[in-house]
Amino acid sequence: MCGIVGYIGRRDATPILIQGLKRLEYRGYDSFGLATVGSAVEVYKKAGRISDSEAGASGLAGSTGIGHTRWATHGEPNDVNAHPHIDCTGRIAVVHNGIIENYSDLKRQLTERGHTFLSETDTEVIAHLIEEHYDGDLLAAVNAILPLLEGSYAILAITENTQRIVAARDASPLVLGVGDAEVFAASDMTPLLEYTERVIFLEDGDVADITPDRYTIYHDGRVVERPIELINWCVEDARKGGFAHYMLKEIYEQPQSFYETIRAGIDDHVRQMIMEADEITLVACGTSYHTTLAFKYLAESFCNLPVRVEVGSEFKYFTPPLRGLVIAVSQSGETADTIAALKMAKARNCPTLAITNMQGSTVTRVADETILMRAGPEIGVAATKSYTAQLAALMQIINLRCDGAFDDALSHAHIAIGDVLLQELHEAVDLCAKAEHVFFVGRGPFYPVSMEGALKMKEISYIHAEGYAAGELKHGPFALLTPETPVVAVCTPGPTYGVMASNIKEMKARKAPVIALGVAGDTELAGFVDIFIPIPNTHLLVQVLTASVVLQLLAYHTACALQRDVDKPRNLAKSVTVE
Ligand code: M6R
Repeated sequence: MCGIVGYIGRRDATPILIQGLKRLEYRGYDSFGLATVGSAVEVYKKAGRISDSEAGASGLAGSTGIGHTRWATHGEPNDVNAHPHIDCTGRIAVVHNGIIENYSDLKRQLTERGHTFLSETDTEVIAHLIEEHYDGDLLAAVNAILPLLEGSYAILAITENTQRIVAARDASPLVLGVGDAEVFAASDMTPLLEYTERVIFLEDGDVADITPDRYTIYHDGRVVERPIELINWCVEDARKGGFAHYMLKEIYEQPQSFYETIRAGIDDHVRQMIMEADEITLVACGTSYHTTLAFKYLAESFCNLPVRVEVGSEFKYFTPPLRGLVIAVSQSGETADTIAALKMAKARNCPTLAITNMQGSTVTRVADETILMRAGPEIGVAATKSYTAQLAALMQIINLRCDGAFDDALSHAHIAIGDVLLQELHEAVDLCAKAEHVFFVGRGPFYPVSMEGALKMKEISYIHAEGYAAGELKHGPFALLTPETPVVAVCTPGPTYGVMASNIKEMKARKAPVIALGVAGDTELAGFVDIFIPIPNTHLLVQVLTASVVLQLLAYHTACALQRDVDKPRNLAKSVTVE
């Protein structure tokens, strides 16, 4: 949640900060702001989207600056609560990603000592605390106040008259980009792609003192060396490339991102870990949780491997007995609940593996080993290509445990994914766009596929949607079926085909219109549903992928028909770094 950027060098900071914030807008987009070191500390901040009022920032001068794009936690989104926050004197400005949990105590104490607060945010205490300790040395002041903060933070601070940024991180991500006589800082790599491929992932507890020509990183008061790593993404990956939305571009990138993730394979350490596991527990949230549930169905049936899946937010407070390998699945690698679960698994001495798309992210540093997905940057808030890339990584685990039985299916899956991208969906979109509620149903691995279809539909179209195991609908939700309530059913050949067909007929008997995804040529199914959407007749693993992609497209086109803000749906952020 929230994205921060910093620039220090020889160039005009403002356009670089604005561009960087736009790249980070997926982390939060209810307000934004910048501060630069010009003749004084100059601040511009505004509620709403960057593109609506960025022109107002054009007057900010200076080649040192910080910026923030917000997903509100403390205080509603408005101009005052937007970051940066300043101290009483206006000499110090701070941007922050994370939550200062003891901010009310600190605020009360600071108020008693005479400080005046302007905003309702937790962050503002940081600016006032720095003010109390600032005697011309910003690094010393930041170092003095960090022990007072409880919670999580990535902070950038500047002061007037000094070409210097002090950065600190604890439990919120922060990356430095190293250029030629210029240094960048950001919540993740995407704002850096234009300028440098050399990055440093700060560790929890690190404090960086940055000037145009050098950066020094401290940990526990001592200078430390952090390795410079090369980014494995390029700037084109983060551009919209002529598509109407990032989400559509990312849906269309799936043949490639799936293929690349399969091609990258699994390294020897991870292989050994997987082969030694006699049980696997997976922790994840949201879409990533759906991939783990699909994995459970597939791994238990194909490799007779016991699998349990846990929602990250529950796991921390209701930790089950743990045995065997624990895998954390997270596109961003920064989801607070998933990280907390991973840390608990480590504390119980379980071997741990992270599956993530984000090089250098927190899960990669907490877990013993990592499988890095090759999806490239995903900017749309709705997970699409990261979902199928997670499935690519998880299906490779199944393939490994089954001695390569699915080599052929996995190495050709991208072709089938490409085929469904062109699927005609007009009729189904018209039906869904008129509906108030839509149900998604399937059995076995198509149950999580349905849950994911429903999540995509609700998050970007705002239509109420539920994903159910098909047999469950008659245990309550049938009461909601009407001629205006479409049911999207996935029904492909296999042991549950017959019972699925019966379930569909039961829904039809309640007059619900049924949109069915079935394999091409299934005239029987096509004959008794309202709308039939064919997917290629492939291996079950591949059907899971193609059905998912069709449901992404259904949600996307429905949201477009309703003129929703597809890439930035209301109230959401892509990287959920709070519990
Ligand atoms: O980064 P993560 O995969 O850990 O994110 C978990 C969820 O917040 C995420 O999957 C969310 O549900 C999707 N963006 C929804 O499309």
